[in-house]
Amino acid sequence: MGVVSSAVLAKLGHVVIGLDVDEVKISQLNRGAVPFYEPDLTDLVQAGLKTQHLAYTTQYEAAIPKAEVILIAVGTPSAPNGTADLRYVFGAVAAAAEYMADKVIVAIKSTVPPGTNVKIRDIISKYTDKQVYVAALPEFLREGNAVADTLKPDRIVIGATEPAVIKRLLSLHEGLGGKRVVITPESAQMAKYTANAYLAQRITFINQIANICEKNGAKISQVIEAIGDDKRIGGHYWYPGLGYGGSCFPKDVKELSAYAKSIGEGQGLLPKIDELNEERIIKKMNEYNKLVEGFKGKKVAVLGLSFKPNTNDTRFAPALVVVPFLLRHGAFVTAYDPQVKDEAIRLYPGIALADDPYKASSEAQVLILLVEWPELINLDVHKLAEVMDSGAFFIDTRNQYTQVDMKNAGLKYVGIGNG
Ligand code: UDX
Repeated sequence: MGVVSSAVLAKLGHVVIGLDVDEVKISQLNRGAVPFYEPDLTDLVQAGLKTQHLAYTTQYEAAIPKAEVILIAVGTPSAPNGTADLRYVFGAVAAAAEYMADKVIVAIKSTVPPGTNVKIRDIISKYTDKQVYVAALPEFLREGNAVADTLKPDRIVIGATEPAVIKRLLSLHEGLGGKRVVITPESAQMAKYTANAYLAQRITFINQIANICEKNGAKISQVIEAIGDDKRIGGHYWYPGLGYGGSCFPKDVKELSAYAKSIGEGQGLLPKIDELNEERIIKKMNEYNKLVEGFKGKKVAVLGLSFKPNTNDTRFAPALVVVPFLLRHGAFVTAYDPQVKDEAIRLYPGIALADDPYKASSEAQVLILLVEWPELINLDVHKLAEVMDSGAFFIDTRNQYTQVDMKNAGLKYVGIGNG
């Protein structure tokens, strides 16, 4: 989020200094190399460096004193009890505070519970007497789409009450698409948790419906088609699968639940979303284990190790549960992912890695498609059938292929919710 914001704001013509305490990342960025995979971001960073609107540093004293706006975009991992661990937010603010100029705006982009701004103001006042404004600027970008989402957001939410702060934050985003929603910091922070919890709940809901379809012969894709034209419902963003993953939904649903519990609203739907999502993947793997008459001794190809397409982020990726499950059940696993390479060696020492999907599937009795990477949803199924064992299973956890495609090729197809 930080790298994307820095590069986009530089493109808008602002002078941006990106600060991180990780020297390796900063020196990579200053050379124009982005330390993770995100489409279009490298070009944007390089353009910013070239125009000298963008630079990166590890030094607070270099980045903070001249800043009119400071965006805090550090991580907020979940603490063991599910609440947001705010130590990096508080640490960054404390380290920056003594260098802050008068009337600077500290805008919190990290996902934090309502009420955090008051704590941040208290921390800052320990280090400086200057007037510092604290605002909320929640971020809604998706990984893999981060640059496009930031250039053309559906909306930009500004959580601030002082007119001068609102004016400066509106002008900071001038040139970007999307509606502006100016609300209180507490509402802005609630909006971020609400958006992610709602979307996570939507995915969990359709996965539950998919389970029912598997029992009664209905097809989940047809159900979605039939209800999606209802404007109150909509046809997007509830494709079924093994459950949601990534760096935000699992964490944010847990955090909202824990935060709700801490203020006496912890029962009901929120903890259930997380519970259903976490148990889903093991439930499905147990079903597949039965269906293929045991993974033991079978060669299994796993396609897709990231948590979703167009990113090399593996946080809460389905493979993190699927691969260990397969190994525990005695399968021989060969995996392929277009971007997760070195990390796959570190994460999965017990498996073989192939450099293309067909090699990964060679002589396999089971293929499990976990991520809808463009390359993996356009496989030549006849070529696959040739390299795989005859009558092999193709388990499509993203419903990208059809029963008919696979039958014609001689593979046994298994989709989610009957495809
Ligand atoms: C999400 C939010 O979309 C974004 O607004 C927020 O800022 C950060 O969290 P991200 O985690 O990058 O973004 O990915 P997203 O595309 O939303 O997918 C999240 C998870 O849900 C993935 O595991 C994805 O596979 C899954 N998903 C998404 C589904 O299973 N079905 C869907 O229809 C959509």
